[in-house]
Amino acid sequence: MIIHKTDEEIELIRLSGDVLGRAHAEVAKCIKPGVKTSHLDKVAYEFISDHGGYPSFKGYKLKKSTPYPASLCISVNEVVVHGIPDEYELQDGDIVSIDCGVCLNGYHSDSAYTYAVGNISEEKERLLRVTLESLFKGLEMAVSGNRIGDISHAIQSHVEKAGFSVVRELVGHGVGKMLHEEPEVPNYGKRSTGPKMLEGMVIAIEPMVNMGKKNVLQEKDGWTIRTADRKPSAHFEHTVAIKKGKPDVLTTFKYIEEVVKVKNG
Ligand code: MF3
Ligand code: CO
Repeated sequence: MIIHKTDEEIELIRLSGDVLGRAHAEVAKCIKPGVKTSHLDKVAYEFISDHGGYPSFKGYKLKKSTPYPASLCISVNEVVVHGIPDEYELQDGDIVSIDCGVCLNGYHSDSAYTYAVGNISEEKERLLRVTLESLFKGLEMAVSGNRIGDISHAIQSHVEKAGFSVVRELVGHGVGKMLHEEPEVPNYGKRSTGPKMLEGMVIAIEPMVNMGKKNVLQEKDGWTIRTADRKPSAHFEHTVAIKKGKPDVLTTFKYIEEVVKVKNG
């Protein structure tokens, strides 16, 4: 069942998304060679708690998994998603995806951003750019009367035109009182298929894009998903409402972008 949201609920998700955007920026400030991913997780946990929220992922169970142990999913290079923060120190040339959810006043928001650590290869730069562009191609399709497959198709065609591949096993999702609601939002598919989008739907769109082949594997920890060919993967995510017929993005990269701009001089 797809749960449509009232305007008031959409505003609550936007408030949750604002805290989330600012938590991401606090993490972004710390991203540099030598920092432990567990430190980034601590920064996010403290910022979210200090602002009256709860990190949506902490303790969350996906299917029959063990409860997720952290506030962030931190996925470096060939890790696609669900990397668990640990003692790894980021290195110059890495790409690192930071995925985070906030629950505030009973409503979740969910977003992810992939960063360059120091100087990265041109091919990694292109992977980040194409993945971010594909998210916006998907967001543009989140209008009343379109179907979920229109989002999926827009993402897949942009990614494949660039010579990259789309992960099949993980998908976007509805967002609201629960982190994961219906519908599923795949990053591949056919136009004019799937559930119809209507006023008040709130969904997370989250393309996961591999530089090499689309296949992924799960590590023995029961969470970490990596590419089968160990080539890099990128991930960007926004939570978006269909409001007045159009996409209304409820999470934000504006705080992140301010930090990234200052870092790049
Ligand atoms: N953004 C991811 C998703 O929506 C994060 C989920 S991680 C979990 O699937 F820990 F919460 F499961
Ligand atoms: Co998500």
